Amino acid sequence: MKITTCIFDAYGTLFDVAAAARELAGQPGREAFAEVWMQVANDWRLKQLQYSWLRAVARDHVGFWQVTQDGLDWALARAGLEDAALREDLLGLYWHLAAYPEVPEMLGRLKAAGLQTGILSNGSPDMLEGAVSSAGIGQMLDAVLSVEDAGVFKPDRRVYDMVGARFDCTPDEVLFVSSNGWDAAFAAAYGFDTLWVNRAGEPMDRLSGQPGRVAADLTGVPEIVGVA
Ligand code: LAC
Repeated sequence: MKITTCIFDAYGTLFDVAAAARELAGQPGREAFAEVWMQVANDWRLKQLQYSWLRAVARDHVGFWQVTQDGLDWALARAGLEDAALREDLLGLYWHLAAYPEVPEMLGRLKAAGLQTGILSNGSPDMLEGAVSSAGIGQMLDAVLSVEDAGVFKPDRRVYDMVGARFDCTPDEVLFVSSNGWDAAFAAAYGFDTLWVNRAGEPMDRLSGQPGRVAADLTGVPEIVGVA
Protein backbone atom coordinates (compact mmCIF):
# COMPACT_ATOMS: atom_id res chain seq x y z
CA MET A 1 0.00 0.00 0.00
CA LYS A 2 1.24 3.49 -0.85
CA ILE A 3 2.14 5.57 2.19
CA THR A 4 0.03 8.73 2.35
CA THR A 5 0.63 9.76 5.94
CA CYS A 6 3.77 10.04 8.10
CA ILE A 7 3.24 10.13 11.86
CA PHE A 8 6.02 10.88 14.31
CA ASP A 9 6.52 10.31 18.00
CA ALA A 10 7.71 13.51 19.68
CA TYR A 11 10.28 13.22 22.48
CA GLY A 12 13.53 11.61 21.39
CA THR A 13 12.18 11.21 17.84
CA LEU A 14 11.65 14.79 16.58
CA PHE A 15 12.78 16.68 19.69
CA ASP A 16 16.21 16.27 21.24
CA VAL A 17 15.57 16.06 24.99
CA ALA A 18 19.04 14.71 25.84
CA ALA A 19 20.82 17.64 24.15
CA ALA A 20 18.82 20.08 26.26
CA ALA A 21 19.84 18.32 29.49
CA ARG A 22 23.48 18.14 28.35
CA GLU A 23 23.49 21.87 27.62
CA LEU A 24 22.15 22.64 31.08
CA ALA A 25 24.86 20.44 32.61
CA GLY A 26 27.48 22.60 30.88
CA GLN A 27 26.31 25.84 32.45
CA PRO A 28 28.46 27.51 35.15
CA GLY A 29 27.32 26.63 38.68
CA ARG A 30 25.96 23.24 37.58
CA GLU A 31 29.07 21.20 38.45
CA ALA A 32 27.25 18.73 40.73
CA PHE A 33 24.67 18.07 38.02
CA ALA A 34 27.36 17.85 35.33
CA GLU A 35 28.84 14.81 37.11
CA VAL A 36 25.61 12.81 37.03
CA TRP A 37 23.54 14.40 34.27
CA MET A 38 23.52 11.32 32.07
CA GLN A 39 22.25 9.06 34.83
CA VAL A 40 19.64 11.67 35.81
CA ALA A 41 18.50 12.05 32.18
CA ASN A 42 18.22 8.25 31.76
CA ASP A 43 16.42 7.72 35.06
CA TRP A 44 14.09 10.62 34.29
CA ARG A 45 13.11 9.20 30.91
CA LEU A 46 12.69 5.66 32.24
CA LYS A 47 10.57 6.72 35.21
CA GLN A 48 8.49 9.10 33.07
CA LEU A 49 7.64 6.19 30.75
CA GLN A 50 7.19 3.63 33.55
CA TYR A 51 4.77 5.93 35.31
CA SER A 52 2.82 6.42 32.06
CA TRP A 53 2.52 2.63 31.59
CA LEU A 54 1.71 1.93 35.24
CA ARG A 55 -0.99 4.57 35.26
CA ALA A 56 -2.43 3.17 32.04
CA VAL A 57 -2.55 -0.36 33.53
CA ALA A 58 -4.01 0.93 36.80
CA ARG A 59 -6.52 3.14 34.92
CA ASP A 60 -5.23 6.05 36.96
CA HIS A 61 -4.57 8.54 34.16
CA VAL A 62 -2.90 11.90 34.73
CA GLY A 63 -1.42 14.19 32.08
CA PHE A 64 2.11 13.69 30.72
CA TRP A 65 3.24 16.85 32.48
CA GLN A 66 2.51 15.14 35.81
CA VAL A 67 4.45 11.96 35.01
CA THR A 68 7.27 14.12 33.63
CA GLN A 69 7.53 15.93 36.97
CA ASP A 70 7.16 12.72 38.99
CA GLY A 71 9.87 10.99 36.95
CA LEU A 72 12.26 13.90 37.41
CA ASP A 73 11.65 14.01 41.16
CA TRP A 74 12.55 10.31 41.40
CA ALA A 75 15.68 10.79 39.28
CA LEU A 76 16.88 13.80 41.28
CA ALA A 77 16.21 12.02 44.58
CA ARG A 78 18.23 9.03 43.42
CA ALA A 79 21.13 11.32 42.49
CA GLY A 80 20.88 13.18 45.82
CA LEU A 81 20.20 16.41 43.92
CA GLU A 82 17.01 17.76 45.41
CA ASP A 83 17.60 21.30 44.19
CA ALA A 84 14.47 23.34 43.40
CA ALA A 85 16.20 25.67 40.89
CA LEU A 86 17.71 22.73 38.97
CA ARG A 87 14.32 20.98 38.96
CA GLU A 88 12.67 24.07 37.53
CA ASP A 89 15.34 24.52 34.85
CA LEU A 90 15.14 20.85 33.80
CA LEU A 91 11.35 20.94 33.57
CA GLY A 92 11.57 24.20 31.62
CA LEU A 93 13.57 22.39 28.92
CA TYR A 94 10.46 20.51 27.86
CA TRP A 95 8.87 23.75 26.72
CA HIS A 96 11.82 24.90 24.60
CA LEU A 97 13.15 21.83 22.85
CA ALA A 98 15.07 21.90 19.60
CA ALA A 99 14.35 19.47 16.80
CA TYR A 100 17.10 17.11 15.65
CA PRO A 101 19.08 18.79 12.84
CA GLU A 102 17.65 16.62 10.04
CA VAL A 103 14.01 17.29 10.97
CA PRO A 104 13.15 20.54 9.09
CA GLU A 105 14.47 19.36 5.72
CA MET A 106 12.92 15.89 6.12
CA LEU A 107 9.47 17.31 6.97
CA GLY A 108 9.77 19.94 4.24
CA ARG A 109 10.39 17.23 1.63
CA LEU A 110 7.38 15.20 2.81
CA LYS A 111 5.12 18.26 2.67
CA ALA A 112 6.44 19.34 -0.74
CA ALA A 113 5.55 15.87 -2.06
CA GLY A 114 1.99 16.19 -0.72
CA LEU A 115 2.18 13.70 2.15
CA GLN A 116 0.14 14.20 5.30
CA THR A 117 2.28 14.67 8.39
CA GLY A 118 1.58 14.67 12.10
CA ILE A 119 2.80 14.05 15.62
CA LEU A 120 1.22 11.40 17.87
CA SER A 121 2.57 11.85 21.35
CA ASN A 122 2.02 11.18 25.02
CA GLY A 123 2.74 14.90 25.54
CA SER A 124 -0.08 17.14 26.67
CA PRO A 125 -1.37 19.62 24.05
CA ASP A 126 0.32 22.61 25.70
CA MET A 127 3.69 20.83 26.07
CA LEU A 128 3.56 19.82 22.41
CA GLU A 129 2.57 23.29 21.29
CA GLY A 130 5.56 24.72 23.16
CA ALA A 131 8.02 22.25 21.62
CA VAL A 132 6.59 22.54 18.08
CA SER A 133 6.74 26.31 18.15
CA SER A 134 10.22 26.52 19.72
CA ALA A 135 11.52 24.06 17.09
CA GLY A 136 9.80 26.11 14.35
CA ILE A 137 8.20 23.09 12.61
CA GLY A 138 4.49 23.90 13.04
CA GLN A 139 3.91 24.84 9.38
CA MET A 140 5.22 21.42 8.26
CA LEU A 141 2.75 19.43 10.37
CA ASP A 142 -0.92 18.89 9.52
CA ALA A 143 -1.83 17.72 13.03
CA VAL A 144 -0.34 17.49 16.50
CA LEU A 145 -2.25 14.68 18.20
CA SER A 146 -2.00 14.30 21.98
CA VAL A 147 -3.00 11.15 23.86
CA GLU A 148 -5.01 13.44 26.12
CA ASP A 149 -7.85 13.10 23.61
CA ALA A 150 -7.84 9.33 24.22
CA GLY A 151 -7.34 9.68 28.01
CA VAL A 152 -4.71 6.91 28.10
CA PHE A 153 -1.02 6.64 27.18
CA LYS A 154 0.73 4.72 24.41
CA PRO A 155 0.80 1.86 23.59
CA ASP A 156 -2.96 1.56 24.16
CA ARG A 157 -4.59 0.91 20.78
CA ARG A 158 -7.01 3.77 21.32
CA VAL A 159 -4.05 6.12 20.90
CA TYR A 160 -3.03 4.62 17.54
CA ASP A 161 -6.73 4.78 16.50
CA MET A 162 -6.42 8.59 16.64
CA VAL A 163 -4.40 8.58 13.40
CA GLY A 164 -7.16 6.99 11.28
CA ALA A 165 -9.76 9.17 12.97
CA ARG A 166 -7.89 12.36 12.08
CA PHE A 167 -6.55 11.49 8.64
CA ASP A 168 -9.20 9.11 7.31
CA CYS A 169 -6.56 6.58 6.22
CA THR A 170 -6.05 2.86 6.75
CA PRO A 171 -3.16 1.73 9.02
CA ASP A 172 -1.18 0.35 6.07
CA GLU A 173 -1.11 3.83 4.47
CA VAL A 174 0.73 5.15 7.52
CA LEU A 175 4.47 5.24 8.18
CA PHE A 176 4.76 5.52 11.96
CA VAL A 177 8.16 6.73 13.14
CA SER A 178 9.41 6.45 16.71
CA SER A 179 12.72 6.33 18.54
CA ASN A 180 11.07 4.23 21.24
CA GLY A 181 11.47 0.56 20.35
CA TRP A 182 8.32 -0.37 22.30
CA ASP A 183 6.27 2.31 20.52
CA ALA A 184 7.45 1.16 17.08
CA ALA A 185 6.78 -2.48 18.07
CA PHE A 186 3.20 -1.85 19.19
CA ALA A 187 2.56 0.42 16.20
CA ALA A 188 3.74 -2.42 13.93
CA ALA A 189 1.44 -4.88 15.74
CA TYR A 190 -1.38 -2.35 15.20
CA GLY A 191 -0.80 -2.50 11.44
CA PHE A 192 1.20 0.63 10.68
CA ASP A 193 4.28 0.49 8.49
CA THR A 194 6.94 1.42 11.03
CA LEU A 195 10.39 2.93 11.29
CA TRP A 196 12.30 2.59 14.55
CA VAL A 197 14.85 5.39 14.84
CA ASN A 198 17.46 3.62 16.91
CA ARG A 199 19.77 6.54 17.60
CA ALA A 200 21.42 4.82 20.56
CA GLY A 201 22.07 1.44 18.92
CA GLU A 202 19.86 -0.43 21.40
CA PRO A 203 18.73 -4.05 21.04
CA MET A 204 15.24 -4.61 19.70
CA ASP A 205 12.43 -4.83 22.24
CA ARG A 206 10.96 -8.30 22.68
CA LEU A 207 7.27 -7.56 22.15
CA SER A 208 4.48 -8.86 19.93
CA GLY A 209 5.26 -6.61 16.94
CA GLN A 210 8.58 -5.80 15.31
CA PRO A 211 9.31 -2.53 13.51
CA GLY A 212 9.46 -3.02 9.76
CA ARG A 213 12.52 -0.80 9.39
CA VAL A 214 15.33 0.49 11.55
CA ALA A 215 17.53 3.55 10.93
CA ALA A 216 19.99 5.62 12.94
CA ASP A 217 18.22 8.94 12.23
CA LEU A 218 15.38 10.48 10.22
CA THR A 219 17.18 11.41 7.02
CA GLY A 220 15.93 8.35 5.09
CA VAL A 221 12.21 8.93 5.72
CA PRO A 222 11.47 10.69 2.37
CA GLU A 223 13.13 7.84 0.47
CA ILE A 224 11.18 5.19 2.44
CA VAL A 225 7.90 6.81 1.40
CA GLY A 226 9.01 7.19 -2.24
CA VAL A 227 9.86 10.90 -2.26
CA ALA A 228 12.91 11.29 -4.48
C1 LAC B 1 6.01 10.57 23.09
C2 LAC B 1 7.02 9.88 23.96
C3 LAC B 1 6.69 8.47 24.22
O1 LAC B 1 6.30 11.62 22.51
O2 LAC B 1 8.28 9.97 23.38
O3 LAC B 1 4.89 10.06 23.03
